[in-house]
Amino acid sequence: MEQQVDQAQPEKQVFPPSPEFRDAAVARPELYEAAATDRLEFWADQARSLHWHTPFTQTLDWSDPPFARWFDDGELNVAYNCLDRHVEEGNGDRVALLWEGEPGDSRAITYAELTSEVKKAANVLTDLGIEAGDRVAIYLPMIPEAIVSMLAVARLGAAHSVVFGGFSADSLRARIDDAGAKLVITADGGWRKGKVSPLKPAVDASLEPRGDLPAQDTVTNVLVVRRGENEVDWNDRDVWWHEAMADASPEHEAQPFPAENPLFILYTSGTTGKPKGILHTSGGYLTQVASTHRNVFDLHPESDVYWCTADVGWITGHSYVTYGPLANGATQVIYEGTPDAPHSGRWWEIIQKYGVTILYTAPTAIRSFMKLGRQIPEQFDLSSLRLLGSVGEPINPEAWLWYRHVIGADRTPIVDTWWQTETGAIMISALPGVTDAKPGSAQVPIPGITIDVVDDAGTSLDHGDGLLVVSEPWPSMLRGIWGDPDRYRETYWEKFGDRYFAGDGARLDEDGDVWLLGRVDDVMNVSGHRLSTAEIESALVAHHFTAEAAVVGASDETTGQAVVAFVIIKQSQLADAEASDIAAELRSHVAKQIGPIARPRDIYVVAELPKTRSGKIMRRLLRDVAEGREIGDTTTLADTQVMRIIGDKVVR
Ligand code: PRX
Repeated sequence: MEQQVDQAQPEKQVFPPSPEFRDAAVARPELYEAAATDRLEFWADQARSLHWHTPFTQTLDWSDPPFARWFDDGELNVAYNCLDRHVEEGNGDRVALLWEGEPGDSRAITYAELTSEVKKAANVLTDLGIEAGDRVAIYLPMIPEAIVSMLAVARLGAAHSVVFGGFSADSLRARIDDAGAKLVITADGGWRKGKVSPLKPAVDASLEPRGDLPAQDTVTNVLVVRRGENEVDWNDRDVWWHEAMADASPEHEAQPFPAENPLFILYTSGTTGKPKGILHTSGGYLTQVASTHRNVFDLHPESDVYWCTADVGWITGHSYVTYGPLANGATQVIYEGTPDAPHSGRWWEIIQKYGVTILYTAPTAIRSFMKLGRQIPEQFDLSSLRLLGSVGEPINPEAWLWYRHVIGADRTPIVDTWWQTETGAIMISALPGVTDAKPGSAQVPIPGITIDVVDDAGTSLDHGDGLLVVSEPWPSMLRGIWGDPDRYRETYWEKFGDRYFAGDGARLDEDGDVWLLGRVDDVMNVSGHRLSTAEIESALVAHHFTAEAAVVGASDETTGQAVVAFVIIKQSQLADAEASDIAAELRSHVAKQIGPIARPRDIYVVAELPKTRSGKIMRRLLRDVAEGREIGDTTTLADTQVMRIIGDKVVR
């Protein structure tokens, strides 16, 4: 449906679903009614679309808040639900994965083939001593083996901890240690930006003594997929994936595990330097990811070709590449590389090649395509697309409209989905075919989810700006922070008692639609990735040049926010520092310590940092500097001259 865009107020546009879309849509308005009538029964009903070895009789146990138990007496096998079930239902020949490697190699894997690969991998892991309750770290590129590994771990009732391949050896070590992983699954290397980027050396380094740390002692084996064919060192603990798989039996019967059996730990940045291991369990998680994947993406598994561009190293890849789509028997595209390799039309070429119907990506990608210009996507046939999704950060109305107009040919509904690593699955989104879409707003909680916007005192607002809370437990909610129940309670539940505090600011408009306003804590969102200011500050002060550091997220046209660091150089290091390129040195140091995604865009060397009388760094003022604004109110500073000094001494 062609709509005139009001350039002055794009967010005032409303895009109702076309009658054709509405008639064929999976989601129905009755879902809201059912959830409003009996919320728990609504979720129980969603859960019943999974296969339960032992059906549950209880839906929610909230007797020990904030520790929820969903479908507690039920038993299921998550991998069986994503694989064997579809084969047994006669869909074994349906393609599960349409994998495209960056150099142009490709593989199509059916549900029958994927099931057999996962069964073999489960046998390989069993031979390596993995049992229910163990943890397995996965550090792989976007290749089918990443999904096979996750499902093989799940099949055994063990928990995976997927670590994004862009993280450094130090970050990997911290995650392996925290989870006490027994096995690491990695690859020699993967393709990125036209060349092989090695992975195994980081695993080797992470297991060796590091700084003050002795050799890692919980990992007994490293299973190595051959992908990059780059040279790698070989240790006694290493096993080649292809050799182990060649000998493995394709028979493996999935055993039932309790609904609350841990499924995975995924580390995410918080307000302190130490990443939090977010724990998700089985039955409730799979229920909500499958249900939202069906309803929010209007999935017709027999005809759709779905593509979520996220890496499995992030929650979006867990929920909407691995578990949601496979639980629903979808056919999906997986792409190993970057959007611009070997040319900047690569994504559109993939959509054309596979006839992708549903595309789910991040605003930062959309904005960088906007910058390159519409002439690139216009060279490709994108007419197969019928639904577009957005996730990870607020999508500005201009980018929303471009997405719909240039990529969606003014036809496709767009769903802007708000959720978090902690929520496990989509919480706020339009339902395509039901909701009239509003550019820039994530809009309404999905059926069965209760959201409130509250003021600082916790009072619900009818409209206006406040803080986002989830007021009742939901099936895919985090069950805690691995090994740290106190931090779980303090981070999410202390502020508003019985309600979950998401850490996001939000506006409720007159129609009751939610607009996300970004984080209200010291967490940054760079290209849809969460980064902690404290974690980058501690990486900066670990460098011998640095006496003190403060990091802020400054708004950035393409990446949403960018990392901007202010550092004070130690007196004793001044001469050395000045002889080198300080900014380049510190930027590469951060990349080495945490990973390239954390590399600051700008480093300002300053003489002092603005602090309150109690010694707290006033980030608001630093943000003013980083964003080139006039510096705000400085009256609460201990030394009101500091900002002037900073302004004078900035070197970029
Ligand atoms: O600030 C919100 C933002 O991303 C944060 C969660 O980050 P992460 O756990 O890495 O998960 C990202 C993918 C689900 C949120 O606290 N965020 C996520 N989706 C949106 C969003 N902000 C605005 N609009 C969204 N659709």
